[in-house]
Amino acid sequence: MRRADPEREPPGDGLAFRPGHEGVPLGGRTPSGEERAVPEPHAERGGPGTLEAVRSSPRIAAFIAAADDFLGAQGFTEHGFRHANLVGHIARNVLLHLGYDPRTAELAAMAGYLHDVGNVVSRAYHGQTSAMIAYDLLKELGVEPRDMAQVLSAVGNHEEQYGVAVSPVGAAVILADKSDVHRSRVRKDASIDMDIHDRVNYAVEASFLRVDPEAATLTLELRIDTTISQVLEYFEIFLERMVMCRRAARTLGCDFRITVNDVPVL
Ligand SMILES: [Fe+2]
Ligand SMILES: [Fe+2]
Repeated sequence: MRRADPEREPPGDGLAFRPGHEGVPLGGRTPSGEERAVPEPHAERGGPGTLEAVRSSPRIAAFIAAADDFLGAQGFTEHGFRHANLVGHIARNVLLHLGYDPRTAELAAMAGYLHDVGNVVSRAYHGQTSAMIAYDLLKELGVEPRDMAQVLSAVGNHEEQYGVAVSPVGAAVILADKSDVHRSRVRKDASIDMDIHDRVNYAVEASFLRVDPEAATLTLELRIDTTISQVLEYFEIFLERMVMCRRAARTLGCDFRITVNDVPVL
């Protein structure tokens, strides 16, 4: 039985920063598994209704840490602070680079950070429980009701089983969340031979989401070790997610594309 080896990583830096790629890299995971989000030029900082305020909540921090532990106990991949931060940053980047105003982008960052906190209650319908937990926090932070509505609807609609990209904020969260596939999310005690989700995640050496505002495209760039998992397996388990991403991209006026090892597959 083969187990995930977190030390087994290819050399090199982030896939998306190589020359020759059109568009702007929004962020993703490098081969070392590190989050890499491009700095946001217009991001709003500080204040009551911002990502930083959400990140400063001890209760939310405790819930995200506990939720990650509970999901680990159920055999799910990493859903901790790295995932929360990455989704928040990429969601904000998506909207900023498509020309949305900084406040809308900040709401996407908040929603991205909070989207999985409901796993502290249960995996089932965690989008709904995430929204309820987020509601209490946003109320405490004094966030305007219309802004709260944007965050809550995005959080509550991020799961592929029932979620719909009801707004640009929601679309950005969906794209950021579903793009986060990487070997660094596989637990140390996972069995990549036995579990297709672990195997596919483990095979992904780098993943980056890139936007080309001129061409109106959002491209998920994946580097997959096909000796670990066939590309077909990726689509076998993630087809629903990719359909959701395509619809989310359309909400933003873009086409959604995927490249695997520099080959366009969608
Ligand atoms: Fe989720
Ligand atoms: Fe997530």
